[in-house]
Amino acid sequence: MIIAIDGPAASGKGTVAKRIAAHYGLPHLDTGALYRAVARDTVARGDDLTDPAVAAAAAGHLDVDTLDDPALRTAGVGEAASIVARHGEVRAVLLEYQRRFAKNPAGAVIDGRDIGTVICPDADVKLFVTASSEERAHRRYLELRESGIRISEDEVLADIRNRDARDRTREASPLRQAEDAALLDTTNLDIDAAFRAAIDLIEAAMGQAGQAG
Ligand code: C5P
Repeated sequence: MIIAIDGPAASGKGTVAKRIAAHYGLPHLDTGALYRAVARDTVARGDDLTDPAVAAAAAGHLDVDTLDDPALRTAGVGEAASIVARHGEVRAVLLEYQRRFAKNPAGAVIDGRDIGTVICPDADVKLFVTASSEERAHRRYLELRESGIRISEDEVLADIRNRDARDRTREASPLRQAEDAALLDTTNLDIDAAFRAAIDLIEAAMGQAGQAG
């Protein structure tokens, strides 16, 4: 069973995806970490994030054993990731790895921006997880404050809006809800409620597929 989960930054999709993977005993791939790692490596080489060729070369040399590097989780790396993610050349290199991951015989839970639309258009279940930009900014603000970073909520909101705009308007695989994806709006849901709602949507989609087959 392939479960594709897409959505904007701080929508809760990553946490929901992790819990869904644990619930069904499936491997989980956070594809945002791939773009973050490419951005990290491009910057570490002193290269220009806006140059498609150098960013694609970094993607080609990516060490996937470094995807849990805590340095990938900073706001700056997230911003840099959305710059390298605009390059079709980078996306083409990372597509191979993601498709291979999806071929795991038991299935997989994969989250990102273009999983249901480009990476796994034939996924068994597609979820599009979202929340209002104000709520997403509030969550991100609390996380940053928790980790000792001083920033105003307005600044976080402006960053979230910038990243959304970049992800939604780029030419290569923009963020959008697949036509056959179920929408999960987490604006008024805590993480437990979002997880339960996701499971209900998955079970409903699987039930429908069973009836159709
Ligand atoms: O999800 P996360 O915030 O880690 O993603 C970082 C950036 O990587 C996103 O803003 C987006 O530009 C890019 N990304 C993407 N396609 C994916 C996953 C992430 O373009 N499948």
